[in-house]
Amino acid sequence: MEKIVILTGAGISAESGLGTFRDAGGLWTRHSIEDVATPEGFARDPALVQAFYNARRTKAARARPNPAHLALARLQAGWPGEVVIVTQNVDDLHERAGARDVLHMHGQMAGALCGACGHRWRAPDTMREGEPCPACRAPLARPDVVWFGEMPYCMDEILAHLAGAGLFAAIGTSGQVWPAAGFVTEATAAGAHTVELNLEPSDMAAEFAEIRTGPASRTVPAWVGELLSRC
Ligand code: APR
Repeated sequence: MEKIVILTGAGISAESGLGTFRDAGGLWTRHSIEDVATPEGFARDPALVQAFYNARRTKAARARPNPAHLALARLQAGWPGEVVIVTQNVDDLHERAGARDVLHMHGQMAGALCGACGHRWRAPDTMREGEPCPACRAPLARPDVVWFGEMPYCMDEILAHLAGAGLFAAIGTSGQVWPAAGFVTEATAAGAHTVELNLEPSDMAAEFAEIRTGPASRTVPAWVGELLSRC
């Protein structure tokens, strides 16, 4: 059975109560990307950036996986071929739903990174300005998330998965941020069938062979049920 590669975005966690970025009332309508999601913003005001991620980390810890996260974990467990979940999300709802080996291309809020020596460790619930690195003691600890202008993680691995995909699905992502927005083109070039599951057509909708519209908590379980009925 074909390899399935799935890309998720903030929309899959929306029904778990976590904000998206570009919807009405989204995070980027209330915070400046330059101030809280760039290395320059962190250098300028680390306290503001730590507070932004502390609030999101707390909210994510209180959130629960929704039927869409659970359905993807069921697909991974029940599909005879490989199912690779690539997420742009920095929450851990896929893992808490039972998904395995999730590729977090934009990092994870649960992780901390030293801006001086590159050491990584599990982030405390609240990170302070000037938080010392446990390895080199430099006061440059930051959330281990990928900011604008930085290289996403796992790109070589993701592109290799896309090159071998028979089916590619993008769930709850606006298709406005690269390189994730271009994954559908890579999958199409590999001969994969492509499907977008979103509340409304994304900026990349025209690139998909199939569009399923509606809330992820409804469309993803239905889509997974159809796939597993083929096994
Ligand atoms: N079900 C399905 N899709 C939904 C739902 C829902 N309940 N609610 C919202 N959506 C869709 C919206 O229609 C939109 O297409 O989720 C998408 C959210 O888009 P964005 O807010 O742009 O989030 P995302 O695509 O994940 O952003 C990508 O941008 O700011 C950076 O690093 C950040 O990882 C993020 C990246």
